[in-house]
Amino acid sequence: MNVTIRQERPSDYDAIRELVRKSFENAEFTDGDEHHLVDRLRASDAYIPELALVAENEEQLVGFILCTKITIENGENRYESLALARVAVDPRFQNLGIGGKLINGMHELAKKLGFGSIILLGHAEYYPRFGYRPTYTFDIHLPFEVPKENSMAIELSDGTLKGIQGTVRYPEAFGI
Ligand SMILES: CC(C)(COP(=O)(O)OP(=O)(O)OC[C@H]1O[C@@H](n2cnc3c(N)ncnc32)[C@H](O)[C@@H]1OP(=O)(O)O)[C@@H](O)C(=O)NCCC(=O)NCCS
Repeated sequence: MNVTIRQERPSDYDAIRELVRKSFENAEFTDGDEHHLVDRLRASDAYIPELALVAENEEQLVGFILCTKITIENGENRYESLALARVAVDPRFQNLGIGGKLINGMHELAKKLGFGSIILLGHAEYYPRFGYRPTYTFDIHLPFEVPKENSMAIELSDGTLKGIQGTVRYPEAFGI
């Protein structure tokens, strides 16, 4: 298998929608709307084209990852960060390291673009292996109730969340 990662293109949109729908079909937490969220985020100000990536294997789209802009707010203070809005791997290609490759590739690109952190809501057993820690350990909170181990953040360089505390504000497209 030779999996490569590249930025998404408009010609991928239909395949991405189908891949996200399929991969979340049997997911533990799903609202059945994940594929539409991607379309809404793409049309919003939170979208960063460089941070919408696909994984390809022999020209077949097998994975997708999307990070979008968010802010962490504390009174008058606003700090820019990213939400890992979606990561999905075609069910036929899961457990082959593609999710990991997409996540690590995203970290490198986000860092290059000058971002210091990524926040996500996800599986407590999966993301710590990539360096994510519960957001409460940074004194960062989500604007809704979730099991505290599922709300996670990563510093893309040492100390980039130092001194940053507050509540995450999601763009309207998230529908939160
Ligand atoms: C989660 C997902 C992106 C992982 O991608 P992947 O390519 O299958 O994962 P990788 O091959 O990089 O990693 C495999 C490892 O992750 C673990 N893993 C995969 N999905 C997991 C999950 N939902 N919860 C906990 N661990 C998980 C596997 O058990 C395996 O562990 P091991 O290395 O100890 O054997 C993929 O399974 C997926 O698309 N799932 C459905 C959609 C989803 O749930 N997205 C994430 C929302 S938080």
